[in-house]
Parts: sequence; C-alpha cells; structure tokens
Amino acid sequence: MAKEKILIVDDEYLIRWSLAENLKEDGFRCVTAETGEEALEKFRAESPDLVLLDIKLPGIDGIEVLERIKEVDPEVPVMMITATSQVDVAVQAMKLGAYDYINKPFDLAEIRIKARHALENTKLKEEVEFLRKRQVERYGFDKIIGDCPQMQEVIAMARRIALSASTTVLLQGDSGTGKDLLAQAIHYESNRKDRPFMPINCTALPEELLESELFGHEKGAFTDAKKTKKGLFELADGGTLFLDEIGDMKPGLQSKLLRFLEDRTFKRVGGKEDIEVDVRIIAATNRDLETAIEERSFREDLYYRLSVIPITLPPLRQRAEDILPLARYFLDGFNREFSAAFTGISVAAQQLLLKYDWPGNIRELRNVIERAVILSPENEVGLDSLPWKIKGEQKRPPRAGEPGVVVLPESGLDIDDVEKELIVQALEKTDQNQTRAARLLGLTRDALRYRMKKYDLL
Ligand SMILES: Nc1ncnc2c1ncn2[C@@H]1O[C@H](COP(=O)(O)OP(=O)(O)OP(=O)(O)O)[C@@H](O)[C@H]1O
Ligand SMILES: [Mg+2]
Repeated sequence: MAKEKILIVDDEYLIRWSLAENLKEDGFRCVTAETGEEALEKFRAESPDLVLLDIKLPGIDGIEVLERIKEVDPEVPVMMITATSQVDVAVQAMKLGAYDYINKPFDLAEIRIKARHALENTKLKEEVEFLRKRQVERYGFDKIIGDCPQMQEVIAMARRIALSASTTVLLQGDSGTGKDLLAQAIHYESNRKDRPFMPINCTALPEELLESELFGHEKGAFTDAKKTKKGLFELADGGTLFLDEIGDMKPGLQSKLLRFLEDRTFKRVGGKEDIEVDVRIIAATNRDLETAIEERSFREDLYYRLSVIPITLPPLRQRAEDILPLARYFLDGFNREFSAAFTGISVAAQQLLLKYDWPGNIRELRNVIERAVILSPENEVGLDSLPWKIKGEQKRPPRAGEPGVVVLPESGLDIDDVEKELIVQALEKTDQNQTRAARLLGLTRDALRYRMKKYDLL
C-alpha cells in the first residue's frame, strides 16, 4: 500500500523537523513548507493526504492558506497548529473546514494519533462515497430492461416518484417481475440515495420479532431486551424502508404501520415516547391485496394509505418484446461474471424462449440463462442448454446411455449412490461453487450442504 503523504507547514525549522521525523517513524511520507506561498505550491505539486498547518505564518497566514487549499481540494483534511492564545482563530479555522486543531506547545504522541485518525477518517469517507456511487450505478433505472409500453409507463412513473420527497409506493406484481429492482432504483435515484435503503421481508420473522425489528424496543420491553435497540424505521431515517411481502404482515402490525403513515411517528416496543422520522415507505407484494381485504387478512384502510401510487409490474408473458433483450442482458452479465464469451442465442433457442410462458418471470429467465452459460459446451445458447420445461412438447422419453439421463438398471441401484454422484458432478461442473451447483440440482444451498455432509463431501 502506498504510504500516505503529509504536508507540514510551519515557519519554525525545529518544529517542521521534529514533526517530520516523528511522522516518518510512523510510516508516513512528509513534505515540508516554510511559508504560506510555499505551502500552496507544494499542496498542488505533491497532492498530500493530510496537511498540518500553522496558523501564524509570515506572508499569507494559515487561515488564508486553509481557504485556498479548500478551493483546490475540499476533501483533504487540514489540521491547524495554534498557540493557546489563538482560540478565536482556531474556531474560525474550524468553521472554514479545518478538520481539527492542535495547541502549541504540542505533544508529539497526540499529533501522531490525530494524524492517523484524520487519515483513517478520510479513507472511510472516500470508501463510503465510492460504494454509494457504485450503488447508484448498480441500481439505477438504467439497469431496468423494459422496452414494452407497459414497462415504459412503469419506469416513467417510478422516475417521477423518485423525484418526490416521500410519497408512499405500493409495488404489485407476480414473483420475479422486478419489484425489488424497482424499489432500489426509486431509492438510489432519489435525493434519499445517501441515506440507507432498508429492505425487510415481512414473512421472514414471527410477528413479535418483526415488530421489534421495525420499531425497535426499549430496555426491558421483553425478557431478551437487555438494551434499548433502534428499529429499521429509525435506522432508515432520511432514507427508504422497503417492506417486502407486505401482504403477509399480521393485522396487529398493520395498524402500527397505518399509524406511522398517518402521522409519521411511532413508539418503540415498550416505549412511551413518540418518535418522528422521515422515511419513505415502499411496500411490495405478490399477493392480490383486494382478495386479502375481502378475506379480512389485510386492512382496507392500510391498503388505501399504501396505494397512494400503486404500480403493477406486468408478468413476463405479457411483455414478449422484452424477453430477448432481457436474455441478452443477462448473457452479457454472466459472460462478465464467469469470464465466458457467449456470442448469443441460437435462433431456435430464441423461438423457444419467446414461446414459453415464464411462470417465474424474469427471475426464471435469468436462471435459465445462467444454467445455459454453465452447461453449454459451445459459446452460443442453443437448444441443448435449455431445460426440458422450456422445450415443452419436444420432450421425449430418455434413451439409455444418453448423458444426463438416469435409467434404472435391471439389477436396481442404491439411490444414495446416484444422489452422491449427481452432487459430485454438479460441483465439478460449477468449479465447486455450491450456490450454482445447488441451482443445477433444484436444491437450496442449505439443502445441498446438508447432503454434502451426509455423503462426506464437505
Ligand atoms: N426489468 C428488469 N431488467 C433487468 N433485470 C430484472 C428486471 N426485472 C427483474 N430483474 C431481475 O430479475 C430478478 C428478480 O427480480 P426481483 O427480485 O426484483 O423480483 P421480485 O418482483 O421482487 O420477486 P419476488 O416477488 O419473488 O420477491 C432479479 O435478479 C432482478 O435483478
Ligand atoms: Mg422481491
């Protein structure tokens, strides 16, 4: 790793020298400057990671140097060195964006610690900034493929929602139609993007746990509540809370959510105080909420609150013109992920993809393409690499000796041996990638690992 560079600015030789010697011992590179002019010149030429800057300098003083440095690069931390009598100036420097200040006469150990903290802090900030940018690139509307008119309308509406500050959204659509993807795009293209996107699946937890996950709890609210804990509503403050599978939320929690949507406040479990947060709610469901209302498992008033702007994602079979663009998009992605070089999809395979009715929607299409990339011996997705269910009526009885087909021998066999053999083959095909091997076998990764343990393959 490159050593970090510190620019030390002080008119006294002895101070420059002792700071530089000490910081070099800590593994930093040091550059020094005696005057404000020289400091600015070196700042430009050397691009330091941190500046230690004396306030009192001959010529242009420390404050002005600070201001000019901030004009060149506001991100580089500047630590001021001040005499104890210069408290006002130190405060002024902080207002102008100095990172911190150290009083003279200073303790070298203190400077060394502060310098390290300043550099670590800046590095963390840069990392966060980088990750945020990447999130936006990864989850923006550009990543949503959909040329059909229905999707164009959905995307246009979602873009408008992203621009609005806190409008609640209800995303409906069958499993795999892109609800998660759309929720993320709305968040990362809104001015909430620098705050958290907090997804939670309402089916994943029992009611009481979900309640404390969402609203937090006070110490002693229940037996295990040893400490006060913030819930997702608080953690998502300024950001977006994505309530997935809202159709499965229990009525008790539905009322609490309704209350939040009405006055934007809630109480922690066991708490008395009303807490106010600024959170956008995006809810999603693949259940038909109107039926759920008739069955009295979903509150009608909550439904109306949530569906301020309802968006329904069309199933893939109703947007045939998107099938091939999506397939190519996924193929590009897997080419990159697996360092493969697939050139495309054969015409016959394209026809089958277009004919199939895609009950699992876009997720299923993505899985089909992934499977083809793993299994296909050629650099084109052809008929051979498509699963039988897509080939539909072309299915014919398996012939003995054909690869990939199991035929029961006259003498019978041990089914455990067969299972073990198939697992070994799936792992070989996928370079021991358990997630992908599991997918080839139609198992979850946990189920695969369970069997690997059983057959001593772990
Ligand atoms: N329009 C699209 N363009 C590109 N990729 C998409 C699109 N829609 C969905 N996908 C991809 O398909 C997969 C399934 O999408 P997603 O998880 O958003 O579906 P969902 O509606 O939330 O499903 P579920 O109801 O099962 O939670 C994801 O990998 C997602 O990235
Ligand atoms: Mg989802």
